[in-house]
Amino acid sequence: MSERGLTADQIDTSIAHPARMYDYYLGGRDNYEVDRQAAQRIISALPSIVTGARANRAFLHRTVHTLVAECGIRQILDIGTGIPTSPNTHEVAQRVEPTTRVVYVDNDPIVAVHAHARLTDAGHTAFLPGDVRRLDEILERVRAEKLIDFTQPVGVLMLALLHFLRDEENPAAVVARLRDALPAGSYVAISHGTRDRATMENFEPLAELADVYRHATASLTLRTHAQVLGFFEGFDLLEPGLVSVSSWRPAPDSTEPPWIGIYGGVGRKR
Ligand SMILES: C[S@@+](CC[C@H](N)C(=O)[O-])C[C@H]1O[C@@H](n2cnc3c(N)ncnc32)[C@H](O)[C@@H]1O
Repeated sequence: MSERGLTADQIDTSIAHPARMYDYYLGGRDNYEVDRQAAQRIISALPSIVTGARANRAFLHRTVHTLVAECGIRQILDIGTGIPTSPNTHEVAQRVEPTTRVVYVDNDPIVAVHAHARLTDAGHTAFLPGDVRRLDEILERVRAEKLIDFTQPVGVLMLALLHFLRDEENPAAVVARLRDALPAGSYVAISHGTRDRATMENFEPLAELADVYRHATASLTLRTHAQVLGFFEGFDLLEPGLVSVSSWRPAPDSTEPPWIGIYGGVGRKR
């Protein structure tokens, strides 16, 4: 039994879970046969998914470093944390400033189980089970447990998360509610899958991708540049704006292709 009431036996191994599939793309071992089969179907159709997952993770590292080292952020809410993959958000942040507080939130029980073992062993970190579709409950709990001080700027990560919300779940409204809860000078970082620039060649692989996720616990909704940009309403985007994650402030020695079908951006609340 984990301390926040989730148990390993709540882990459903009969259906693929996005967190465990992502773990498999990243070369992790916290996945089950059902996840490996689903992920392998996607990799066979769209081998670039592996590069995409790694590039998204590298975007997370650069974003967190920017928030702490350049923007002076000292508290981070990482929603849709994923299964721990080192370095994790708190490791990147606390390497710059050891007192940076990191609160992880995810709705997948397997993330909860691993988070308690591998994310909250360090100081200034916490994990809460929560679903971004019920953002108010997350914010209420974060406030009640005094995990984040909402009078001070907060950095919120929603990386490779919002594409698991369907249009009718209104991800733009979720981000807007979050924005309204944050003080000015807070930041939100978003990465999001897209089929912009899809060619006839990868049209079918993208259909396969959508089909596999349709049979997992969360379906995937790829969105256009304009749609993802809309999530930053009320925020000023840091340079270079909303671009492919691999082109967002790439490391000088980066070998990633400049275009990967995942947009990434960081906005500062006005
Ligand atoms: C592809 S992983 C991304 C992990 C990490 N953010 C990163 O970018 O490396 C997506 C994560 O979002 C979580 N997730 C999906 N839908 C969610 C929801 N409605 N509420 C909270 N977490 C969710 C999944 O369980 C998974 O851990």
